[in-house]
Amino acid sequence: MADAFIGSEEHKELFCRLFVDTHIPYKVSDLKWPELDDAALARLRGLPIWSEAVNTELETGLKVKALGEAEPDAMLAEAIKLNGYEEQRHFEIILALTERYGIPIERRPDPKPVKNPLWAFTGVGFAECFDSFFAFGLFHFAERSGFFPKSLVDLFEPVMQEEARHILFFVNWAAYRKMRTPAWLRPAHTFENGLAASLQALNRLKMAVSIGGSEDVDENFMMNAHESFGDISPREFVSTCLSESERRMARYDPRLLRPRLAPNAARLVLRFLKEEKAAA
Ligand SMILES: [Fe+2]
Ligand SMILES: [Fe+2]
Repeated sequence: MADAFIGSEEHKELFCRLFVDTHIPYKVSDLKWPELDDAALARLRGLPIWSEAVNTELETGLKVKALGEAEPDAMLAEAIKLNGYEEQRHFEIILALTERYGIPIERRPDPKPVKNPLWAFTGVGFAECFDSFFAFGLFHFAERSGFFPKSLVDLFEPVMQEEARHILFFVNWAAYRKMRTPAWLRPAHTFENGLAASLQALNRLKMAVSIGGSEDVDENFMMNAHESFGDISPREFVSTCLSESERRMARYDPRLLRPRLAPNAARLVLRFLKEEKAAA
């Protein structure tokens, strides 16, 4: 039953319509940035993510918009263009935040025009599946511990949920395309997607290693984060990412596919952590 639905016109209409209907129109210039006390400001400035976030959101926006322009199907094009618009807005929000709170950032050179929009969008989609999964968990801890003041959490909540919509759209778009690909071309299609996913996983690993070893990271960051977030075990962290991801996806139509790559990897890690605990 589900197989017949995935790849159908109804499937396409559902994931495109849902994306467009759940778009929240707001302008970055209308956002009200809260006053932060010195401690909150120091915590915000100490996060080693802002340069990467600004650059990534800008590049993501351009890649997604490029596919929106190239897509011949009007319904898909509308949703993908809106996705690109939201990414551009994320870039503007984070840039505005760094300006408002005096956070220095390093901008990369302007991105080159996108040569292969399909490949670029696929890469972006897998990257977001990994990044959002961890971001959901981190955001939860930042909120629960007061690492971010409530006013800032409220301001970023729509951004988090937009990322949930983006990856929901992506996995359904990818499955729809796969089902629309002639059977004899599907192995090549699967290989291409596997390659895109592996490259993004590798990128994430490289980024984690370079952030961990970077001298740019505020020395106090780890200390501050530890003090503010409290003691979080690897198990608690991974299971929170998982439950937050499920919670954010639960509000959408159950007929749509959910991202599986990061949650399945997390479940595997949880099983390993459980066995380790049992062995100890
Ligand atoms: Fe984004
Ligand atoms: Fe996104």
